[in-house]
Amino acid sequence: PGPLTVPPLQSRLGLQMAGESKKWVLLVTAQTPTNIAVIKYWGKRDESLILPINDSISVTLDPAHLCTTTTVSVSPSFDQDRMWLNGKCRRFPFPGGRFQRCLKEIRARASDVEDEKKGIKITKKDWENLHLHISSYNNFPTAAGLASSAAGLACLVFSLAKLMNVKEDLGQLSAIARQGSGSACRSLYGGFVKWIMGKNDDGSDSIAVQLADEKHWDELVIVIAVVSSRQKETSSTSGMRETVETSMLIKHRAKEVVPKRIVEMEEAIKNRDFPSFAHLACADSNQIIGCVEKWNRSEESPQVAYTFDAGPNAVMIARNRKVAALLLQRLLFHFPPNADTDLNSYVIGDKSILQDVG
Ligand code: ADP
Ligand code: DP6
Ligand code: CO
Repeated sequence: PGPLTVPPLQSRLGLQMAGESKKWVLLVTAQTPTNIAVIKYWGKRDESLILPINDSISVTLDPAHLCTTTTVSVSPSFDQDRMWLNGKCRRFPFPGGRFQRCLKEIRARASDVEDEKKGIKITKKDWENLHLHISSYNNFPTAAGLASSAAGLACLVFSLAKLMNVKEDLGQLSAIARQGSGSACRSLYGGFVKWIMGKNDDGSDSIAVQLADEKHWDELVIVIAVVSSRQKETSSTSGMRETVETSMLIKHRAKEVVPKRIVEMEEAIKNRDFPSFAHLACADSNQIIGCVEKWNRSEESPQVAYTFDAGPNAVMIARNRKVAALLLQRLLFHFPPNADTDLNSYVIGDKSILQDVG
């Protein structure tokens, strides 16, 4: 309940003096939510710049529930760039150097940082040689189809930009986050967001824009049924690569189907038209949930929209809090709690809605 989302990006800047060496550590902590696409990005036209074959539209979640928290720090005492993900040291996640690419793009845009009181000055040139330590946590399953790469890479780019005093606007930062993971460009804004595929070969116009902010349609309630926290077998990157290489339908989807859906979805969001929103979101998600469809058919107009990212976990959008409580009851009936699931596991974050379930 409450607002569908709140402005997604928050950051904090701190300065510590490190141990006896009297060397300093400058750090920024930021929090960024995940986003769930209702018209999906599935397929790249350029693998290294991450340019998509169609526009996509998503809803950004409330960071109080599903989010990444990342601390980036810099110090003359660090001798190499290092990264920890969920507490484990990772020599940089993601194949193909995407993580490093984001670092490089941000470093290239760094400006001077000065703290007169502490006598610290980092010049643009210094940023080329200083090393970073990055520690990131997801408060929801990583690589399980709930868009951890979106929250993770958006948070990385945003926190680094704050640390290095990068002056670019969110649109320009979204083009950098995009090069880490496509879906990440949409997590830089709250509310409803569109990733414009762009036309340019260098990706400069492939950016995210906000369609409507988080207050625009705050009646909606998003319910996420985590049926598995296990890492999905196929990553989004390889799943969509295989689709582009083998599917006869994907070109048709990108050229004929999605462009129409994007226009209709933008209109549905603008008018808070739930029947159209539900129809479009469900149509764009390639899995069918019989019980949601049956329910929607049995009512005068749809009550719930569902959508899947690349994994088994269902994201459902109820038209209001009353419907959300009914939805939870139905979920419990069809998927009764067992050793692995209980009612709590259907609701991440704010559990007050459980009171409505009775
Ligand atoms: P998901 O459905 O969770 O987005 P993906 O296959 O798209 O799954 O991406 C998962 C990968 O994203 C992880 O294996 C990891 O490499 C990267 N990732 C996830 N969270 C973070 C994070 N907080 N910081 C950096 N990289 C992350
Ligand atoms: C099904 O952004 O995770 O969630 O760009 O290769 O990192 P890469 O893939 P990713 O793919 C997301 C696919 C999706 C749909 C969407 O978010 O639009
Ligand atoms: Co992803």
